[in-house]
Amino acid sequence: MKKSFVLALFFGLMGLLACDNATSPQEKRSNNGGAPQPDIDALYDMKCGICHGREGNLMVGGAPDLSKSTLDLQGRIQIITYGKNTMPPQKDLLSADQIEGLAKYIEKFRSN
Ligand code: HEC
Repeated sequence: MKKSFVLALFFGLMGLLACDNATSPQEKRSNNGGAPQPDIDALYDMKCGICHGREGNLMVGGAPDLSKSTLDLQGRIQIITYGKNTMPPQKDLLSADQIEGLAKYIEKFRSN
């Protein structure tokens, strides 16, 4: 009786440790090409949210609904880098990494 309790406790702890490792921040980060998600999140809020909104569908000043965009990654990087009509170019303001991070980030608006 006592022995099986200790065993259960032991395996329970092992399970906890294993879970902990699987969800460590480092491992999560390595899944998105090294771009730290919180930074991109803040960047989007600062640079893009004014026109495109938190959910990508605000559409201020003729901005298209990003949740309905069908542009591929390269196309999005182009527009974010060089701008288009009233959309301001970011090439002198952001690094190529940040621009690519944003181009990937806004994909999350699709599908809902
Ligand atoms: C001043 C308002 C404004 C800001 C700020 C802005 N955009 Fe835009 N965005 C627009 C407008 C307007 C268009 C449409 C351009 C056109 O096709 O004439 C557009 C188009 C786009 C498109 C193309 C969508 C499609 O399918 O055609 C993407 C992607 C995009 N913006 C992403 C971003 C990102 C990322 C940021 C932040 C770096 C950003 N925008 C900041 C106004 C803005």
